[in-house]
Amino acid sequence: MRRNVHPPEVMVEQCIGCQRCMLVCPSFVLELVEEKAKVLRGDWCIGCGHCGAVCPTDAILQDGMAFEKHPKEGKEPAIPPDLLELLLRERRSIRNFTTEPVPKEILKQVLDTGRYAPTGSNSQNVHYIVLTSEDQINTLREITLKFYEKIFSKVTHWPGRLLLSLLAGRKTVEYLRDMLPRVDYFREQIQQGKDRLFYHAPVVVLTHAESWDSSSAFNCSVALYHCSLKAHTLGLGCCFNGFLVNAVNHDPGVKHWLNIPKGHRCYSAMALGYPRVKYPNLVQRRPPRVTWR
Ligand SMILES: Cc1cc2nc3c(=O)[nH]c(=O)nc-3n(C[C@H](O)[C@H](O)[C@H](O)COP(=O)(O)O)c2cc1C
Ligand code: SF4
Ligand code: SF4
Repeated sequence: MRRNVHPPEVMVEQCIGCQRCMLVCPSFVLELVEEKAKVLRGDWCIGCGHCGAVCPTDAILQDGMAFEKHPKEGKEPAIPPDLLELLLRERRSIRNFTTEPVPKEILKQVLDTGRYAPTGSNSQNVHYIVLTSEDQINTLREITLKFYEKIFSKVTHWPGRLLLSLLAGRKTVEYLRDMLPRVDYFREQIQQGKDRLFYHAPVVVLTHAESWDSSSAFNCSVALYHCSLKAHTLGLGCCFNGFLVNAVNHDPGVKHWLNIPKGHRCYSAMALGYPRVKYPNLVQRRPPRVTWR
């Protein structure tokens, strides 16, 4: 599918012919012609910006603009490995939020970070839906829970289970069946006014993208993970929500209510707000399961 990507522009007088841009370009767009970089296959450009980012003489413009300077000249990573590891380890799924609303300006900063996540072929195809109104979040919770009531009512009898295994597979049905005792407890909690779906978060964020693109799941998940890390650094907390993703993709009513276009799927979602708890300890995880060959 053709995308509206403008190839870079080489300012010939600034080019020293070092060929670095050609070395990093994933799409064979540039070649050395008479000791200067030249755009030869502009329509193959995916707009990734590698050429301009690597150019030592600022000879490349993207969309007519010069590239922003890296504050450390790109010579070393912005933070050392131990700090990155601590950031990744201290992030927790937050399930207790204060009632404090999150200002739109802060939400914009959070979503802005998603733009720097990698996307297949640099498609940048991630769309966000942000719910900040209590009424809207309440409605979304209601229609999502209705979907699960429907699903779990099927799991309780064998004709329903048979139908579900044909639609979703035996393993999914076994998983849902194992969940039944928890669903009863969950229902009780909801009846007591405890939001066990979004945890009373003041914000719910979803991503969606075109489903024909095999990178969409990765693109949306990683972009939202980027956002969750930024949120964490701003003092916010997030909890990813697989229940919501499933409901959107399996209940046309939920998808329609969210106005997600035909041909798109929801790939990630999270509740977001100011955390009520802080975690003074770090958790352990299993060692990586690796096959070294
Ligand atoms: C794809 C995905 C879906 C998730 N869905 C939910 C959810 O619906 N509800 C919930 O409370 N947590 C959900 N979580 C959070 C996980 O339970 C959590 O990441 C895991 O237990 C590890 O805890 P940590 O995130 O604090 O490290 C989800 C996480 C992922 C990655
Ligand atoms: S990286 Fe810059 S200076 Fe080097 S060849 Fe490309 S445009 Fe010219
Ligand atoms: S933007 Fe990316 S694809 Fe386009 S010419 Fe530069 S390096 Fe190549």
